[in-house]
Amino acid sequence: MKKIYSAKPSIEKTDISYALQAIKYGWNEKRSDFLKRLSVEFSSFVNVKYSLPLDHGTSAIHLGLIALGIKKGDEVIVPDFTWAASASPITYVGAKPVFCDVETDSMCLSLEKLKRCLTSKTKAIIVVDLYGGSPEWSKIVNFCRKKKIKIIEDAAESLGAYYKNNPIGSFGDISIFSFQATKLLSSGMGGMLCTNNKKLYEKCLLYHHHGMSGKANKFYWSDVIGFNYQITNLQASIVLSQLRRVNKLLKKKKEIFLEYKKNLKDYNKINFANYNIKNVKHSYWMTIIFLKSNLGLNKDKFMKISKKYNIEFRPVFYPLTSMPAFKKFKNSKNKNSYNLSEYGICLPSGNDMNKKKIIYVIKILKKIIDENS
Ligand SMILES: Cc1ncc(COP(=O)(O)O)c(C=O)c1O
Repeated sequence: MKKIYSAKPSIEKTDISYALQAIKYGWNEKRSDFLKRLSVEFSSFVNVKYSLPLDHGTSAIHLGLIALGIKKGDEVIVPDFTWAASASPITYVGAKPVFCDVETDSMCLSLEKLKRCLTSKTKAIIVVDLYGGSPEWSKIVNFCRKKKIKIIEDAAESLGAYYKNNPIGSFGDISIFSFQATKLLSSGMGGMLCTNNKKLYEKCLLYHHHGMSGKANKFYWSDVIGFNYQITNLQASIVLSQLRRVNKLLKKKKEIFLEYKKNLKDYNKINFANYNIKNVKHSYWMTIIFLKSNLGLNKDKFMKISKKYNIEFRPVFYPLTSMPAFKKFKNSKNKNSYNLSEYGICLPSGNDMNKKKIIYVIKILKKIIDENS
């Protein structure tokens, strides 16, 4: 069996033909054609008014914080159990990340958990729709509206999921997605910033390309100091092509999960993450299991042993406060984040997975667990 990867994008003939069109014709007057179409169709899918394609999801979070006016002295609540990209941009604007615990079932923030982190300095929260799932959005949104706390929704991993029939990515004052190589839609790197607020959109637009408002009607004229967070028309062509068959991609993700579930249902040394959260339609972006804590085998040990097989298992995220980069911000013991992290494994969930590969992954998974527990 050839190496099985953790993730692999879906690249079909149509994607290649869109990319070819962009390479051949997408220059000068046509340099933004795919970008414009992608913005329109993405907004429609996520049910937001404005979508701004960017070079990374991380840049989208950074711009979002700037647009919301977050600055030095402010605190921004963010989950401890997520990827570094959710939290790092808070420090780019000089604010302080306050690391919050997550719920064990959703692996996301909850109103109850975030209330514990509130102070008079809290100006915003970054809520992550982790691994294709969603928190209980209604409670969080209602509370934040009342308290005038701004929300950035980090939906990088969860395109195609729904909460109470509303698309994930439609809950934040600003929401962000990623088109990095492991994501549902992928151009290698890339991101999207979404919002319903015209002023916020215009501010992000201004800052995403060297602060040029265009008002002075001159080339190369910066009104404010900005960034270069543009994505290329070529990348946009690939993402647009994939977006046009997004439901097929989502169906495949669910099939992968169901196949793992069916073949592991009698294996009592693991639990699946909870894909059945009330009000949530999961996107099944990544199939995640947890080793039972009584096995004497944690994720780090599992990962070490798994290296000798030609399968790319991935650990779930480390709590951010457990790493040198964020240690100084550690405030409380985020018990659930640390417990989830200790035993979680991501099973290969790329678009190239089929029944044969899944059966092989399960065989090796059981072998590693049975021989080491
Ligand atoms: C939860 C989460 N937030 C943010 C990001 C940042 O996206 P990007 O890699 O496009 O900067 C990612 C993806 O890598 C992610 O998984």
